[in-house]
Amino acid sequence: MQRFQINSYHEYEKAYKDSVENPEAFWDEIASSFLWKKKWTKTLEWDFTKPEVKWFVNGKLNITENCLDRHLEERANQTALIFEPNSPNEAAQYFTYKALHSKVCQFANVLKANGIKKGDRVCIYMPMVPELTIAVLACARIGAVHSVVFGGFSSSALAARINDAQCKMLLTADGGFRGDKITPLKAIADEALQSCPSIEKTIVLKRVLSDVALKTNQVWWHDEIKKVDDNCPAVEIDAEDMLFILYTSGSTGKPKGMVHTCGGYMVYTAYTFRNVFQYRCDRTQRYGREDTRASMPDVYWCTADIGWITGHSYIVYGPLANGATTVMFEGIPSYPDYGRFWEICEKHRVNQFYTAPTAIRALAKNTVNLADNYNLKHIKTLGTVGEPINLEAWNWYNDYVGKGKCPIVDTWWQTETGGIMISSLAGVTNDKPTYATLPLPGVQPVLLDEKGNEIQGNPAEGILAIKFPWPGLARTIYGDHQRYKNVYFSAYKGKYFPGDGALRDKSGNYRITGRVDDVIIVSGHNLGTAPIEDIIDEHPLVAESAIVGFPHDIKGNALYGYVTLKDSDNSYNHDALRKEINQLISDSIGPIAKLEKIQFTDGLPKTRSGKIMRRILRKIAEKDTSNLGDTSTLLNPECVQDIMDNAL
Ligand code: WTA
Repeated sequence: MQRFQINSYHEYEKAYKDSVENPEAFWDEIASSFLWKKKWTKTLEWDFTKPEVKWFVNGKLNITENCLDRHLEERANQTALIFEPNSPNEAAQYFTYKALHSKVCQFANVLKANGIKKGDRVCIYMPMVPELTIAVLACARIGAVHSVVFGGFSSSALAARINDAQCKMLLTADGGFRGDKITPLKAIADEALQSCPSIEKTIVLKRVLSDVALKTNQVWWHDEIKKVDDNCPAVEIDAEDMLFILYTSGSTGKPKGMVHTCGGYMVYTAYTFRNVFQYRCDRTQRYGREDTRASMPDVYWCTADIGWITGHSYIVYGPLANGATTVMFEGIPSYPDYGRFWEICEKHRVNQFYTAPTAIRALAKNTVNLADNYNLKHIKTLGTVGEPINLEAWNWYNDYVGKGKCPIVDTWWQTETGGIMISSLAGVTNDKPTYATLPLPGVQPVLLDEKGNEIQGNPAEGILAIKFPWPGLARTIYGDHQRYKNVYFSAYKGKYFPGDGALRDKSGNYRITGRVDDVIIVSGHNLGTAPIEDIIDEHPLVAESAIVGFPHDIKGNALYGYVTLKDSDNSYNHDALRKEINQLISDSIGPIAKLEKIQFTDGLPKTRSGKIMRRILRKIAEKDTSNLGDTSTLLNPECVQDIMDNAL
């Protein structure tokens, strides 16, 4: 265990050095602190050119034994999961490790009774309620592969994901609470199911008590759990068997179903959780602020939704594999008011708080002093994830929430990486505003120039790539290994290409500068431009469209669409068209992908080979037209002035 936990800068340096000089021995030791049904025969097999990566080869385990059973001896009665409902008037729920274990085993038996076997894919389209965590773990218990789809996605986005993975079962709820709204999940799911022939059974949880009716092959969650007991042995799973599929947007084409496997993902999320947040189950040593509770487990809260990778790795698997107390929150930061997050921190005495820059900006704008109304003295670590954090947001987080005393971990990682890759370790390594700082042990980042040559020395700026495998890496894109190779391993031979740019200061700290591809991060959600353009182009009046991002106070970036119509007849009602276009986007992806601004234009600037010059469109959207570069070589330079004159 000594090795698992990094307690000082010196230990970090040593762990990092060892992990680079002898990665196999390093991860061998880390992985040995888990419960394995059979030890691996080889620690790592890899070839980034194929690409193929395998960790803990021939090792057998069950991740739920590590997240639940393993803790029963020592902490059966410790709280594993705290559920804080959307409404502050509804009571929180507390699940001990024993209770969570029992619920997971019970629901695993429900899955089995309804025909689910090892390897079957189960789609989960649920609100942020404890049953979601239970469902995820129940799948893992029997080796079924979960594919959680965020509750904000539309019916066609849900159907596309179900069909891509050929899911056999759907788990959903009558609805979900979000602020003062109810998301009608069952109605959306029913619409999706009309085009999902692979689904044989749907299990529906009652959450909002609406009077939804069941259709053929649909059963109630509460009826099913009455039919089974809570005795369910953990199935033996190969380290490289699939644990889950999670979809992420690409810059082109349909969403990519990233595949994570059991062994490496478990080891990596658990190790990074413990060290980045400096989570302790039995805190004897303290840093930062006063905490009066003696040797109690820390209470950790990540505000993400389990529909995203942050929720998978740092609400469910990472914390539970550490025997932590993890909070899940059903609601939103602004309901019933912007003090809600702080109220929850005070109520549950949260020690580690992990959220996204977009939430921080919204809170900063709306609650300047609300954070002061609540007692936040238990907070020791603050974390951020999802996009670069701007200095203003960082300062506010540090001053108002951390009172200048809490380390802030700015964690850079991706759905594809499984866990945190570059981040400070709270209170152990230094943080630096707007910098993710240093790589975790086992992570070997490099900066590349345009030609793919490694830039040596500091400071430096370039394209970020990773040159050695780490256990949490997604192994493939479900059903499309070629695409996995093309997207991540072809741009720079022999290296993993995440799609981000970065700079490195003279001490080796990394700052992520943003995407270098056509993915735009809006409120922390990755959105590919091409898939949205394809949807807009389906509108009968639309000839062509181009989307770019522009800075937005709260969302970080918002989408700006340039649209040309087939017939430049000016009598169209542009506002009505804008609504129709956004409705189309909302129907096929979800409201998160709606365009903030839509400008109708007679032409889009193109190169002579017909490629849209997004760089120019981006500058116009950003209102930075002082230096548009040479436009004279365009096919249609005249349209640029026109677009500028009519910019929104
Ligand atoms: C961006 C979320 C700067 C980045 C865990 C990455 C960040 C993409 C940070 C992955 C950060 C995430 N600083 N940028 N701390 N964290 N990103 O797959 O562009 O939803 O490639 O995973 O978010 O987003 P994803």
